[in-house]
Amino acid sequence: MAANTLIFGGSGKCARHITRLLAAEGHTVHSVIRNPDQRPDIEGLGGEPIVQSIEESSVDDLANTITSSKASTVLWCAGAGGGSPGRTKAVDNEGAIRSMEATAQAGVKRYIIISAIDVRDRRNKPEPEWYDDNDRQRSEKVWTAIGPYMQAKFAADRNLVTENGRRGLEYTIVRPGGLTNEAGQGTIAAGKVHLGSTISREDVAQTVVECLKNDGTKGLAFDCVGGDTPIAEAVAQVAKERLDGFAGRY
Ligand SMILES: NC(=O)c1ccc[n+]([C@@H]2O[C@H](COP(=O)([O-])OP(=O)(O)OC[C@H]3O[C@@H](n4cnc5c(N)ncnc54)[C@H](OP(=O)(O)O)[C@@H]3O)[C@@H](O)[C@H]2O)c1
Repeated sequence: MAANTLIFGGSGKCARHITRLLAAEGHTVHSVIRNPDQRPDIEGLGGEPIVQSIEESSVDDLANTITSSKASTVLWCAGAGGGSPGRTKAVDNEGAIRSMEATAQAGVKRYIIISAIDVRDRRNKPEPEWYDDNDRQRSEKVWTAIGPYMQAKFAADRNLVTENGRRGLEYTIVRPGGLTNEAGQGTIAAGKVHLGSTISREDVAQTVVECLKNDGTKGLAFDCVGGDTPIAEAVAQVAKERLDGFAGRY
């Protein structure tokens, strides 16, 4: 059945792949972008652009956009790119949280967010039990290099999970490792994985699309990196075994 999806951060590199993949399957994709020059690109992928800056939009503004689109699923693929700590907080943390609030306010249940691997409360919660020395070193390196970005992602994901009693969203948090622009392999490793391997944006996009098709991913936060398991199979395994890399770490 054709679905109607709205993407915040629609002009992003993962989002463009998602738009193309969903449109090719006959789904309607509303793509929220802030730069009107990107309209033709989005239309070329089969998406329907909506020009609106997340940073300048209130919860009501975002909820109105969702309602007008008649979307049944909201995807968050936006991000400030990790450059300025101020914009990172405004988009990756506060903007993401407004999108969650707006999704609930618009009466939409399904919400999928692209976050990042190793997003967690490193100070107060136990380290993932499958981490080895290599993971520890990589975690330290990333949090030292881009702490404000990881903190912004953490604040958003924690809010999504802890406020969900009130919001009642059917959420999935997709937590990829470092992203590349390589062509997708169609295979990944997902669930509780080691840090360090990259994953192509095209494979992340396919993973998000699989989450949309697999209701067993509702309520889960799972890691994904490059690997050998076909994406649908990897996502099905995550759903079946309820593999959640964020639970107990926020
Ligand atoms: N880079 C990595 O290695 C890595 C690893 C794990 C997870 N992630 C996360 O994965 C997600 C997808 O990554 P990606 O590489 O596909 O992202 P991307 O290409 O950087 O796209 C992010 C999008 O967010 C949009 N955006 C930023 N501020 C906005 C605003 N105020 N209003 C509307 N849109 C706004 C940007 O629009 P403009 O085109 O107008 O700037 C851009 O299109 C991001 O959340 C990222 O943080 C990244």
